[in-house]
Amino acid sequence: MSNNQPTLLVTGASGHLGRRVVELLLEANAGTIIAATRHPEKLGDFAKKGVIVRHADFNDPASLTQAFAGVDRLLIISTDALGTRLQQHTNAVHAAEQAGVKHVIYTSIVNPGPESPILLAPEHYGTEQAIAATSMGYTLLRNNVYADVAIGALSRAIEMGQHFSACGDGKIGYVTREDCARAAAAALASNFEGRRALDITGPEALSQGDLAALASEISGKPVTVVPLELEASIQGMVGAGLPRPVAELYASFDAATQQGYLNVVSSAVQELTGQPPMRMADFAKAALVPSH
Ligand SMILES: NC(=O)c1ccc[n+]([C@@H]2O[C@H](COP(=O)([O-])OP(=O)(O)OC[C@H]3O[C@@H](n4cnc5c(N)ncnc54)[C@H](OP(=O)(O)O)[C@@H]3O)[C@@H](O)[C@H]2O)c1
Repeated sequence: MSNNQPTLLVTGASGHLGRRVVELLLEANAGTIIAATRHPEKLGDFAKKGVIVRHADFNDPASLTQAFAGVDRLLIISTDALGTRLQQHTNAVHAAEQAGVKHVIYTSIVNPGPESPILLAPEHYGTEQAIAATSMGYTLLRNNVYADVAIGALSRAIEMGQHFSACGDGKIGYVTREDCARAAAAALASNFEGRRALDITGPEALSQGDLAALASEISGKPVTVVPLELEASIQGMVGAGLPRPVAELYASFDAATQQGYLNVVSSAVQELTGQPPMRMADFAKAALVPSH
């Protein structure tokens, strides 16, 4: 570690993505690393490896002022507090600016603009706007849907021989959470000082028919797509026990898929990390085929 390396901070460092970003920064010997979290007691393993662990809660602005002191580049991982996180993220952005952070990186969503049917897109869009209104440099990482999220659906499709979908022929540029972590770690450790928005995606966009074909290839049995209307899909999820607002949130992703908002593929993962992103087929086989 040399003196001219920047001080890097990762928020949400005890979450899946945050933990992995910190691990990757350690592997890359990327400089002084600060892991910020609501649960410092969960990060004893990082502290033993030289990571500075600080308490930070986006609901508590005073904790952020302390946590962000002396930081050059900061990764804000979007929280899971749907409905209240725009205020949380705005607290983090303002605290970063006040602390003199030079570059902020934020995990957003592809096509977050006001026209997106995705019910959680406005929180990302609002956060992007709050960042753009500061004087800091920034990198917006517009993550597509995690490939990890599709594994449950693939597994059910294999079990049932049917894949229910309200996505029409729409495609999604699924990206693994691992590739999102690699992209975030690379953006944090880079010396880019300007302002940019990058779509973080897998190498190809897949329809639900493509997923059914993959399920069939993995299982060696036929898997057919059963097309659903959006409302029927919502009713099905409610019938299976999901609260209606949650079912509507999931269905809003299907509506966005139908309308092409998630049909986004870019070369940003390769450009940031020097390695291509993983294909859904390879990820699914590793997750679902025992001997793979
Ligand atoms: N692209 C996709 O398909 C997709 C799917 C799921 C989620 N996401 C988004 O990506 C984020 C990271 O994904 P993940 O897989 O790592 O999710 P996760 O394991 O559920 O992590 C949730 C994250 O939210 C943070 N958090 C919650 N409340 C907070 C608060 N008050 N202050 C600061 N941080 C808070 C947690 O940090 P600490 O517990 O360490 O404080 C943790 O990093 C999620 O939070 C969500 O916004 C994207």
